[in-house]
Amino acid sequence: MKVPYGGDYNPEQWPEQVWKQDYELFDAARIDTVTLGVFTWAQTQPAPDMYDFTTLDRIVERAAAEGRQICLATGTGALPPWLAKAHPEVNRTDFEGRRHRYGQRHNACPSSPVFRRLSAEMARRVAARYAGNPAVIAWHVGNEYGGACYCDLCAAAFRGWLRARYSTVERLNAAWNTTFWSHTFTDWDEIEPPSALTEHWRGPDHTAFQGITLDYLRFMSDAMLTNFRDEKRAIRESDPHTPVTTNFMGMYRPIDYHRWAPHLDFASWDNYPPDDTSQARMALTHDLMRGLKDGQPFWLMEQTPSYTASRDVNPLKRPGLMRLWSWQAVAHGADAVLFFQMRASRGASEKYHGAVIGHSGRSDTRVFREVAELGAELERVGGVTLGARTPARVALLFDWDSWWALEISDGPSRLVRYQQVVLTYHRALWDAGADVDVVPVTADLSRYDVVIAPALHMVKGDLAERLEQVASRGGSVVTTFLSGRVDEDDNAFLADVPGPLGPLMGIRIDEWDARGPEFVNPVCFDNGPIVDARLLLELVIPQGADVVGTYGEDFYAGTAAVTRNVFGAGYGWYVGAGLDQTGVCWVVRQVLDWHNLSGPYPDVPDLETAVRVTRDGTHLLFLLNHNPEPVEVVARAGGLDLLTGARVHIGQVIRLDARGVMVLRQ
Ligand code: GLA
Ligand code: ZN
Repeated sequence: MKVPYGGDYNPEQWPEQVWKQDYELFDAARIDTVTLGVFTWAQTQPAPDMYDFTTLDRIVERAAAEGRQICLATGTGALPPWLAKAHPEVNRTDFEGRRHRYGQRHNACPSSPVFRRLSAEMARRVAARYAGNPAVIAWHVGNEYGGACYCDLCAAAFRGWLRARYSTVERLNAAWNTTFWSHTFTDWDEIEPPSALTEHWRGPDHTAFQGITLDYLRFMSDAMLTNFRDEKRAIRESDPHTPVTTNFMGMYRPIDYHRWAPHLDFASWDNYPPDDTSQARMALTHDLMRGLKDGQPFWLMEQTPSYTASRDVNPLKRPGLMRLWSWQAVAHGADAVLFFQMRASRGASEKYHGAVIGHSGRSDTRVFREVAELGAELERVGGVTLGARTPARVALLFDWDSWWALEISDGPSRLVRYQQVVLTYHRALWDAGADVDVVPVTADLSRYDVVIAPALHMVKGDLAERLEQVASRGGSVVTTFLSGRVDEDDNAFLADVPGPLGPLMGIRIDEWDARGPEFVNPVCFDNGPIVDARLLLELVIPQGADVVGTYGEDFYAGTAAVTRNVFGAGYGWYVGAGLDQTGVCWVVRQVLDWHNLSGPYPDVPDLETAVRVTRDGTHLLFLLNHNPEPVEVVARAGGLDLLTGARVHIGQVIRLDARGVMVLRQ
């Protein structure tokens, strides 16, 4: 047992003599796992009544004969041209109302009965054919579900979805507050998908009715989930056990991965950071992906060994970075390290996307060498990390509904971006070296000492009570500006802001001020720094809470910006202003220090630490040096470095190379 290593492999694009060379190179790089058949529909079903598995058979047989594990795709990530031609309704209609013709990929209307039937049939046939092949260790359904469709089939399906949700038009009218602007619906058929032709102007985020747009986002996410479930069900007809997944995209707004997660057997995701300084962002995304299935390990399904091709500018991963980021994924819970792709395709849009094997087929390149070195390293480490869990005492709440509601809202500010707020708070935790679970608002919070809920715009169900319980028993809850504003229907609470969070926070907000990025109001902390606050400045009126930070300027100078409320045996912290990173770090450190939850090196910049606890209770401490220079620190605990076999003694100076990694078994 070891961490599966390899990735997307498309031998169908090559003559068979190339396959031989591929496997020799895979051997050299210790590549033991291949993801096959992600875009094979046109090949496996070349005509309506014709299925042809000749090539896929050879590909699968060869991989198995070569001793590789297979993550086998159903192949439905792109439509075959004949299908789009024969049934134009399988093509999507876009936000502007344009019915698309054949092209690209991830291009099917999720509500099309023909697409649903034929994609499920493809999954059924693939599973029936290869189930029982011991090389197949996972099923990969579709590919990177996403986007949206606004066609008539989707409109009809949306109406059905709304009926199921609201039962009566009256309830729907209440939820969407349709008395506003004379929108009272009298029949389900009057409801149109919210698009450029209906409720929207200036794009998908500007809507006259948040309620309908929010429900369409929920519906579209559910519609594509139905596609995934159609295929999974078809796979299960012949294979009851092999785990089924689909590759997610991290913080991807259109799909509510929390609603999908229960239907996947394990989560997997594709990591394509925009630059080589995204370590904190990637840490957050890994934590989010691990949080999808209650802390169970996930797969790093794709990463590039070198560069992407889809961006305007595609920077090269510097030496050591691919290894460092692969270990970062493992440190945060990845139980597989896979690339896109094994061999670079010759033509079309990804010919310049990095690959383990480039167009020249050489193995004496830096990139290949680094891939091979990591392969050897993973082989040496073996299976010790597999199944290990993160012992986090800190939770960060992530909520697609809040994300959507915040970003489709008119007012207070279009400049406040949900991901940015979440990133700032997670970054503060990451800097301090705290292990963090990023979890849905429905998660069991009883195991956490600290719960951070940035921009928790929408408060649903019993969440406020569950947060109160965290504080009551001695924990700390932190929330921010723009929290506790709306209910599940995106209607404002008829109460003081922050609505149901008011008692826990011990404050009230009557006014707020949104400003452009150039406008700064300093916030001064008692016994702390003076930091910048921007974009959103709420005038916090304590109702029992202690003032921790005050505004420095304007007519509200001297009034509260940050407060801490004693609640039961714990605290509710409210950060009413868009503090800069320094300010957020200061607040978060106060909280972590109170609970003694910082990592071993909270003051060494860009030295990341993360813990995984193995099935037998062994602690693995990952040290990841994101600096382009070496760092030296004093060991806080002894252990064995699994990468070098060196013993580390407590108190000893340990040195990590530039972009170096250490995995200490303690
Ligand atoms: C995605 C897809 C792959 C490929 C890579 C390249 O993650 O899943 O098919 O397009 O991106 O960037
Ligand atoms: Zn559609």
